[in-house]
Amino acid sequence: MILLDFEGDYGRTYNSNIRHLIPAYDAILEIGAAALAAHAPQAHAALVVGPGSGTELPALLAALPDAQFTLVEPSAQMRGFCEALIADIGAADRVCWGPPQLEDTTALAQGPFDAVISHNVLHVLPPPQQQQLLDRMAAQLAHGGLLVLSSYSEPDPQTMEPWLAIARARFLAAGMDPAMIDGVMASRGSTVFSLDQGLLESRLNAAGLEPPSLLLQALCNRLWCSRRPAQQHQGGGTGPIHS
Ligand SMILES: C[S@@+](CC[C@H](N)C(=O)[O-])C[C@H]1O[C@@H](n2cnc3c(N)ncnc32)[C@H](O)[C@@H]1O
Repeated sequence: MILLDFEGDYGRTYNSNIRHLIPAYDAILEIGAAALAAHAPQAHAALVVGPGSGTELPALLAALPDAQFTLVEPSAQMRGFCEALIADIGAADRVCWGPPQLEDTTALAQGPFDAVISHNVLHVLPPPQQQQLLDRMAAQLAHGGLLVLSSYSEPDPQTMEPWLAIARARFLAAGMDPAMIDGVMASRGSTVFSLDQGLLESRLNAAGLEPPSLLLQALCNRLWCSRRPAQQHQGGGTGPIHS
């Protein structure tokens, strides 16, 4: 199986493998949705970048009950799985498809968005494309809106051995095929790219967003949120998320 081939077997088996591959996968989605429910409960427009098969959508739809969702997903196969899930949960009236990708920082017609969410997408892109996508997502975020991001993100790329040993032990304990384990370990830096915390901070700062708040770290996977401050004339309730 070719890792991260979303149009092939990797995409076809995504739902059954992803909890082995990403530690605390469900906790990341759960806490991301809770952050939105806590900090953007009245959101009217939400953008989900890279929903894949759509696993995050039920919790997001529940967290933001007044929001219309726009989805940006380049893989036709993953869009197909996502559409089936949306039909299953009866959410078609709250969801529409945007372009397959954010091509630049031009505002989408459905925006600006009170919430922008992207789970587990940035690490499938090399750093220059991570930077581009961060800038493009930040540009879609309304004043007062909340950005929720998760990604593989190495705490310290120079001292990775202890982390990698735990990751390998976890894969073994989950019964993952040894060839698959070797493939996943070898993907680091070639098909899976760490999102550098410094890059994240600098791009959010350049886009006028607050510094990211770390909500969860499970081994080398991290979840953050960040807000674009409200415009002054909108008043109140705009203090930092973690002061
Ligand atoms: C690892 S999956 C994550 C899917 C889902 N968000 C989750 O957490 O399970 C990454 C998804 O991002 C999509 N993707 C890749 N490049 C993208 C880009 N530039 N913009 C938006 N989505 C992208 C892939 O097609 C794939 O569906």
